[in-house]
Amino acid sequence: MNMSRMQKYRRIEQAAPGELERLREQVSRCPWRQTFHIQPSTGLLNDPNGFAYYQGEYHLFYQWFPLGTEHGMKYWYHMKSADLAHWQDVGIGIEPGGPYDSHGAYSGSAIEKDHKLYLMYTGNTRDADWIRNPYQCIAVMDEHGRIVKEEKPVISSVPEGYTEHFRDPKVWAEAGQYYCVIGAQRSNLTGCVLLYRSPDLKEWELLGEMVTRLSHFGYMWECPDYFELADQGVLIFSPQGIEPEGEHFRNIYQSGYLTGKPLNLDTRVFEHGEFQELDRGFDFYAPQTMAAPDGRRLLVAWMGLPEIGYPTDGSGWAHCLTLPRELSLREGKLIQKPARELSKLRKEMTRAHHSLHDETRRLDGFSGASYEMICEFSAYDAEQFGIEFRAGAHEKTVLKYDRLRKKVILDRSLSGQTVGEEYGLTRECTVDAPALKFQLFVDTSSVEIFINDGEEVFTSRIFPDKLSTEIRFFASGGSAELDAVVWKY
Ligand code: FRU
Repeated sequence: MNMSRMQKYRRIEQAAPGELERLREQVSRCPWRQTFHIQPSTGLLNDPNGFAYYQGEYHLFYQWFPLGTEHGMKYWYHMKSADLAHWQDVGIGIEPGGPYDSHGAYSGSAIEKDHKLYLMYTGNTRDADWIRNPYQCIAVMDEHGRIVKEEKPVISSVPEGYTEHFRDPKVWAEAGQYYCVIGAQRSNLTGCVLLYRSPDLKEWELLGEMVTRLSHFGYMWECPDYFELADQGVLIFSPQGIEPEGEHFRNIYQSGYLTGKPLNLDTRVFEHGEFQELDRGFDFYAPQTMAAPDGRRLLVAWMGLPEIGYPTDGSGWAHCLTLPRELSLREGKLIQKPARELSKLRKEMTRAHHSLHDETRRLDGFSGASYEMICEFSAYDAEQFGIEFRAGAHEKTVLKYDRLRKKVILDRSLSGQTVGEEYGLTRECTVDAPALKFQLFVDTSSVEIFINDGEEVFTSRIFPDKLSTEIRFFASGGSAELDAVVWKY
């Protein structure tokens, strides 16, 4: 193995003496540590995994490489929560390095069976010639939180007609059987999803490809997730290799969904509408959902993207997870609202009403680096109106509505340290509505923006100076009525 591969595929116990301490020290000096998002103590976080409710608590794992900000040896890191708002650090969930996950415990999901939580994941391996062999593996967590890997993988080979890119099992139970979808690449280098069935989570039978109308849609589909919501079938996945199209598909890789009639498990046919993006911001990938005990469908994603350097890399860590969202369906479209439990994070509140006339203005009590804010703009004739936040002498992140073009625009060109500039500095999306409600969750280095109660969401990292804490409201070319409320977090 060459040197850089050896560096990347090290487990924690292979760290050099003092290396972890040095990393921790670097991280502690970083100005962009989050305050209410799940983030790694050191190294790189990516996909959410094994999101489940078990024994009265939410469990959420994430892909983690502890020793650097490159995609190296991946662990599952374990977090849990009683309320989806406050998370407790549990520690390492799945450790890689066995015969079937020698080069990483890659993404997967969780399901309860016989009072235990079954974690199904992809074991990534490389042989001496660096050929990848993925295995689908099981680890079982008991009531005491002890996680033990099964000795043998449950799916040991890639089916004929598909490449080594075969990973990320998402399991569900239906009609007395278990099913899972796995992301795959066909031998002709197009992406798809494979469907398996099992009576017991151990013996898995390949049913075949999920039949969609997207036979040539990118070269790989990562992290598929199938569920039913309001009697409709929903397939979420993260396709790679989609070209930008106007305001759509601007990020390096996409995450989106299809909705339609429930998947026919006999024919594997999924009749669906257009592929739609889940999020319109800059940093969102590999989402995973789960069913809460009260029936809500919850979603968490990685607030980052593969193959892009981030400003925290130099401080020894990268990325965080999004806040959990509640999903519902309206006319074939997924509506995403922040999980209602997040209101538990609200502290001191300030409210204001103001009529904006061709001006940019600050309001008493509106400032900060970590808060939730709801702004409703109504009765508007201004050409543009919106908010400048995390603003200072030379910096601002701008969220605005362009009335003439009917577009919500997020501009991070002056947000501070830049990231992924080659993919553009603004994101926009068409919204046609008589009033605009912006709900923002701002943390030290991120913002999640819910437009008109989850009609659209923009999720993005930003890297401003810690002194850039101003919030300014503006209207130009006319006026707008503003109602705003902010809670410190
Ligand atoms: C998506 C992904 C998955 C894989 C994991 C490895 O970001 O590439 O397909 O299982 O990350 O960390």
